[in-house]
This record gives sequence, structure tokens and C-alpha cells, in this order.
Amino acid sequence: MRHLMNPLDLTVEEISEILDLANDMEVNPKKYAHSCDGLKLATLFYEPSTRTRLSFEAAMLNLGGSVLGFSSADSSSAAKGESVSDTIRVISGYADICAMRHPKEGAPLVASMKSSIPVINAGDGGHQHPTQTLTDLLTIRSLKGRLDNLTIGLCGDLKFGRTVHSLIDSMIRYPNIKFLLISPEELRVPSYIREDVLKKHHIPFKEVVRLEEALPELDLLYMTRVQKERFFNEEDYVRMKDFYILDKSKMKLARPDMLVLHPLPRVNEISVEVDEDPRAAYFKQAQYGVYVRMALILTLLKWKNQ
Ligand code: CP
Repeated sequence: MRHLMNPLDLTVEEISEILDLANDMEVNPKKYAHSCDGLKLATLFYEPSTRTRLSFEAAMLNLGGSVLGFSSADSSSAAKGESVSDTIRVISGYADICAMRHPKEGAPLVASMKSSIPVINAGDGGHQHPTQTLTDLLTIRSLKGRLDNLTIGLCGDLKFGRTVHSLIDSMIRYPNIKFLLISPEELRVPSYIREDVLKKHHIPFKEVVRLEEALPELDLLYMTRVQKERFFNEEDYVRMKDFYILDKSKMKLARPDMLVLHPLPRVNEISVEVDEDPRAAYFKQAQYGVYVRMALILTLLKWKNQ
């Protein structure tokens, strides 16, 4: 049995197989409509979510399975002080597979150690969000036709943005990837990513503050939200929340085939006027999240039964 805590828990070949399966699920949904008949997915969400929780639930329903779970710590016995270890031991008797989101980094890993069902990390604090990364990889591969030879701009909150950390970890495994890291000084990528991931693997990268400077070079722009919930100080959040706003005039600086991705939710960082631009792919990206989670659920259940 295997869990998914970090995108690096999957080899490049396994990711490729999951993306192939997801593409087939998009084209041939009926073929998979009974793949999980009689099986249950538990969604244990201690932190708010729209896309991740509901796309997991849609994925399991599309596979013929059922779903159970909670959508906030307050509506679970965590509010009475129950540990994730005890919760997962109980849920292991109720469901066949589980997706867990938690504000504390490492909480899904702790759960996986006591679990007798596969546990999927659906986002842990500012750490990792592996299923968002699978969604991003599926979107990039489907819309750009490749996962190599890309100049990728990551813009916004690169310090606390778990989607950015997981995406960098994953993309460095493909040939000829270059990053432009676009952030205010206070929200630069953590030093462990700069030193232990990028420099250690000799990945070309440049840190810039101005989005306008980076835009003409990019094959792909990955925008992120400045996350209010990760700030200790309201003043710092207010100062930085509108630091980047991608609008029509900035899009004129970008290549005609540059893709704009965003894990969503967005606040102000992409103006709604950009939504109609054919390069804006973030709503399609959210849709890909369903197919990739279908493929992941089926793959983890298959490995569990091998
Ligand atoms: N992208 C993402 O994780 O969105 P939610 O917080 O709505 O799940």
C-alpha cells in the first residue's frame, strides 16, 4: 500500500502513467463509471477548500464510489481534541482511501503512519500540495504538449505557497526547465528550495521583483494568491496583497502562446478581464483536477490490492 505525501513519492514514469490515465478518463468517462463501485473515499478537511475537496468527491462519484467526510476541523472531533492519528485509525474502518488537508505541515504524514488505507495529502500548511501539482502537470502537458524545455514564471507568494514548492520539486525532474521566481523580497522562496532543490540540482533560476521584466521570457506564468491565512501580521498582508495584478496591459508583454495558470482561489492577482484571453487556462486547470484525482484514486487502490 502506498500513500501520497509529496509529488516525489511518485517516479516520473508513474506520473506519466497517471497523466495518461487521466487523459483517457477525460475522453472516455463511461469506461471508468463503475471502477470504484462499492468503495468509499473519506475527505478529512481541517482547513477550507473548494476545488480540492469537491474535485476529490466528484472524482470518486465519477468512478462509481461513494464519499464521506468533514469540511472543517470545527465539525469533527478535532474540536474536542482528537489527534489525527486516532482519527485515521477510526476512518480506516469506514473508508477505503482518504484525502486529508490540514493546516499543520506533516499532519497527513503522521496520519499515514497509523493508517491501514492509502492517505493522500490534500495540502499541509505551507508545505506540499501534491494533487495540485499533478493537476498542474496534466494541464501543462495537455495544453503545451510537453513537460520539458519550459521557462516557467512563478509569481506571488513563493514563501508560503505550497503549490509552488510542490511544482518546483516536480518540474526539476524534466529536462531543460528554467524558473523565473517573481516575488516581493519578503515572499521569496524559502532558502531550502533555493539551496537544496534549485542550486543543488543545477537548475537555472532568476529571482526578480517586477512581473513586467519576466513576462516576455515565459512559456508559462503560474500566478499565486498572497495567502492571508499564512500571515501573522495583518499589516504585512495588507501591504503585499495587491503587489501583483496581472491585467490586459501586462498580458501584451507576454508571448502569444504563454499559458497563464493559477491554482485558485484568486483574489485580485489576476484581473477578471484576463479571463477571456485564450492564454488564461486556470479554469480548465481546475477541471483537469477532477480527471487527475480520478486517476490517482484508481492507481492507489490498485496498488493497495496488489
Ligand atoms: N487549489 C486549491 O487547493 O484550491 P482549494 O483551496 O479551493 O482546494
